[in-house]
Amino acid sequence: MPATDPSLETTVGPLALGNPFLLASGPPTASGEQIRHAFRLGWAGAVTKTIVPDAMEIRDVSPRFAAWKDGNSGLLGFENIELLSRKSVSYWTGEVAATKKEFPDRVLVASIMASPDPGEWQELACTVQDAGADAIELNVSCPHGMPERGVGAAIGQHPDLVREATRAVRQVATVPLIVKLTPNVTDIVPVAGAAVDAGADILAAINTVQCLMGIDLETLEPNPPVAGFSTYGGYSGPAVKPIGLKMISQIARELPVPLMGIGGISRWQDAAEYIAAGASAVQVCTAVMWEGAGIIRGMNAGLSGYLLRKQFAGVGALRGRALPLIGTHAALSRSVHRFAARVFPERCRSCGRCVTACRDGGYHAISMVGGEVAIDRDRCDGCSLCSHVCPEGVIVMLSGA
Ligand SMILES: Cc1cc2nc3c(=O)[nH]c(=O)nc-3n(C[C@H](O)[C@H](O)[C@H](O)COP(=O)(O)O)c2cc1C
Repeated sequence: MPATDPSLETTVGPLALGNPFLLASGPPTASGEQIRHAFRLGWAGAVTKTIVPDAMEIRDVSPRFAAWKDGNSGLLGFENIELLSRKSVSYWTGEVAATKKEFPDRVLVASIMASPDPGEWQELACTVQDAGADAIELNVSCPHGMPERGVGAAIGQHPDLVREATRAVRQVATVPLIVKLTPNVTDIVPVAGAAVDAGADILAAINTVQCLMGIDLETLEPNPPVAGFSTYGGYSGPAVKPIGLKMISQIARELPVPLMGIGGISRWQDAAEYIAAGASAVQVCTAVMWEGAGIIRGMNAGLSGYLLRKQFAGVGALRGRALPLIGTHAALSRSVHRFAARVFPERCRSCGRCVTACRDGGYHAISMVGGEVAIDRDRCDGCSLCSHVCPEGVIVMLSGA
């Protein structure tokens, strides 16, 4: 057991961070003041809202968000059709310089996007690094609005275009280069490989997942409705964490490149999972929009307590620990068979959900006998459906021969 609390310090390639938490590019980093507020609260770094050349017109619509919530107004998934920073390049150069002056120990990353012209990317990259940005993140992954103009995910979905944009910025960048990838591809590894080939120091994944949040059944307007019409947007928040985890672990298994994990991180546990899946640090956007930048306190404390309890000397000791446990389906054991058991009968309310699920979606192994749930172990196929539908956590899967 470490004598003192484990350090939350981490390195992501050439970047050193006091803890693994950065604000991701988005509304929480839309101004220098918001970033400095977050730094005061304890965030180790921040990625600015994506900065674009002044000539690139950014006109947002209203409303531009839609949310999918549980019964208690907790967030499940979030859609946005917001574009990039509407602030000028000179606003950002001033704010980057001011923020670095006040917080020289924090990592300030400038997110940039330019037209397909490599010269424009290079000019913007030089401008933000001259202003004092610690690193540059290339946004080749925004899934809405910008692809219609040939940028954002229109670049990030093609390895050759990612290679070209990365190479152009690499030629002029003196600070570390991060490429932020889109999940809206069949296979993220070739795109990640192209960015690394072209000189990316770090990859960040994921940007938002393309979606249509829903349709109002009274008006038949899709959400979010902009004067009655909508468009496909970017999905974020808790619902996308499994997609982000999959993509980070996939890249980590294939490429020796430092990673920042993004997507659905709202608790320290989410961050710990991304680190175990191969990330060296994480970025957070939607959870800060929903709950405020103060969540950093609980995240740092929770992660620190977890590392201590698990006797990990630091973040680095957790990094990638789950990777050797992810393999092909064919490689999974067929010799282990689990069976369902009602281990806490006193908590069972005999609601019958497990019976229905096993009857209509399973193997007819569960029935109600005299008002009590009865599991026929011989018929149980070990699929685990009942343990997931049980609202009381009464059923667990036990090991069997
Ligand atoms: C409203 C909103 C605006 C965003 N704007 C940007 C942006 O300007 N540039 C960018 O690279 N990503 C942008 N993102 C994507 C986030 O940085 C992040 O990749 C994504 O939301 C997944 O993380 P999360 O689940 O923590 O939000 C935006 C996300 C949201 C929700």
